Order: sequence, then C-alpha cells, then structure tokens
Amino acid sequence: MQKSVLVIGSLNLDLVVHAERIPLAGETVRGSGYDSLLGGKGANQAVAAAKLGAQVRMAGRVGSDSYGAALLEGLDEVEVDVAGVQVTEGPSGLAVITHSSDGQNAIVVQSGANGLVTAADVSALEFANAGVVLLQLEIPMDAVVAAAQASHKAGAVVILDPAPVAALPEELLRAVTWLTPNETEAAQLVAGSMEPRQTAERLLAMGCRNVALKLGERGAFLMGADCEPTPVPALPVKAVDTTAAGDCFNGAFATRLLAGDSPEVAARYANAAAAISVTRLGAQVSMPSRNEVEGLLGRSPQIPLV
Ligand code: RIB
Repeated sequence: MQKSVLVIGSLNLDLVVHAERIPLAGETVRGSGYDSLLGGKGANQAVAAAKLGAQVRMAGRVGSDSYGAALLEGLDEVEVDVAGVQVTEGPSGLAVITHSSDGQNAIVVQSGANGLVTAADVSALEFANAGVVLLQLEIPMDAVVAAAQASHKAGAVVILDPAPVAALPEELLRAVTWLTPNETEAAQLVAGSMEPRQTAERLLAMGCRNVALKLGERGAFLMGADCEPTPVPALPVKAVDTTAAGDCFNGAFATRLLAGDSPEVAARYANAAAAISVTRLGAQVSMPSRNEVEGLLGRSPQIPLV
C-alpha cells in the first residue's frame, strides 16, 4: 500500500491587500491593489506536498459559500483527495493579509468553517496509509490533539506547525515527531528570543521528539532524537512575498521524509522549495513543482528525488 501525506487543517480564502508597508497599530495606509487567493495553512501544505509528487489527502471543513467551492476545486486541480473535507452550512475560513512591498505580511484569520472541525471528525478518518500527518493550529485544539494522538498511534510521522501560536498541551507535544515553528512562534513558545540551538533545546524539553526551526533568510535548524543539531543554510533569493513559505517548507519536508530522505536532506529540499515560493505572490499559487526545486538544487546527487 502506497503511503500518503494526510493533512488535517484549515482552508481559507486569502484577501490580500498590497501596500507600501504594514500599518502600525491605529494607522491607516493606502493600498495599491488586492487579490483573492486560495490559502489556509492546511490547504497550502497539502498543495505544496502534492505539487512535489506526494499522494495527499486533506481533511477539514469549508463553508457552503462560493469560497468553499473554490477551495475544494483548487485542491482537486492538483489531485489532492478532498473526501475528508466536509462542507458545513455557513462561511468558509477567511484570511485578511496585508502584503508589503518588501515581501513581508501580516495576517488576521477568521476561522469560519475551520473552527467547526471536531475530534469526532478526526476519529472518522482512516490513518492506516498515512505515512506523514501535517497539522497546524487553525482548527480547534481538541481536534489537533486528537489528530496527533491518532496519527502517532498509527505509526505516522506527525509534523506540527504551531501557527497561529498557542500554548501546546503536553499530550499534544508527546505525539509530535517534528515541531516546526518560525522564529516568532518559537520565541513565544519559549518566552524569549535566543540562539537557535538554545531555542531548540527548550522546545525539546517541552516534550516533542524533534524540532525544525524555520529561520527565514537564515534557513533552518534541526535538532532532536532523530537528528544531530544541524543548521541548514538558506538559498539566497529576492523575496516578493513570504506568505506561506513556512507552509511550503512543511509540505516539502513531509514529502521528502515520506520518500525516505534523512531529516537533513529533507530540510535542504524544503528550504529550496520555500525559497522558490517567496519569489512569487500568494499562498497556494506560489508553491513550486518538483522540476523547479530540482532545478534550484542543481540536481545534486546528494538529494535523490521521488
Ligand atoms: O501561512 C499562510 C496562511 O496563513 C495564509 O494562506 C492564510 O490563509 C493563513 O492561514
């Protein structure tokens, strides 16, 4: 039986407003245009993995509005199996994103249907062929905990993106194979900003098995039971929009772990995928193909592809 990547998480319509810079609290700035794009951390990770060659299943909820239909269609187009996504009466998840000219973003997420995902939804899922399970925190915490525990019990690798950041229950951390915060999230989780190794040590002491810190322009840092402390350098690119770069990393990391790569090789591949994604505007639409990632990596023999 071919193992798949199972994503249990959010699907959002992203309303992206472009502006010179992100406004300060209480400030109004002029926009220069806007786009409606497909997003949501869960769906973004699903698209990233599918475009890189993994067999992907998505579970979650969309609303009964036109956004919900568009989100399902978008996943269908890249051959993500959406049988696990329920259509719920009411609005879909919505993210309002300010995208600044230097490529940064600020996001407010309105849960919509994502907020109605339950632990019972999770227990109805089939985990037997899930090799890697991707989780984030845009669905209710009890559903995330149920998903992590069921996945762990089924022997899957569990990758948790702690975003939007929240306190992580011990029973969740115990079921997580890889915790993948970005710098901001990591600093909030360990209550302070420190060097990557020290941050990783603190996160590991909280109970998860491994940590992959996503450090943006500085690449990534891996450490844990399955990996020696390993800095993974970033690839230099000009960032147009960093939205969903972390989702791209997680989708790619999952794809390569599923294919049998070591964590270090998988992270180098994921770094390259994320580097390509930031050169483009938007979330799902910015996810690269295998050929693009392979091209950037220069067909290195050290990085076998699926
Ligand atoms: O990680 C980027 C995503 O965060 C966006 O697509 C938005 O929907 C929010 O979920």
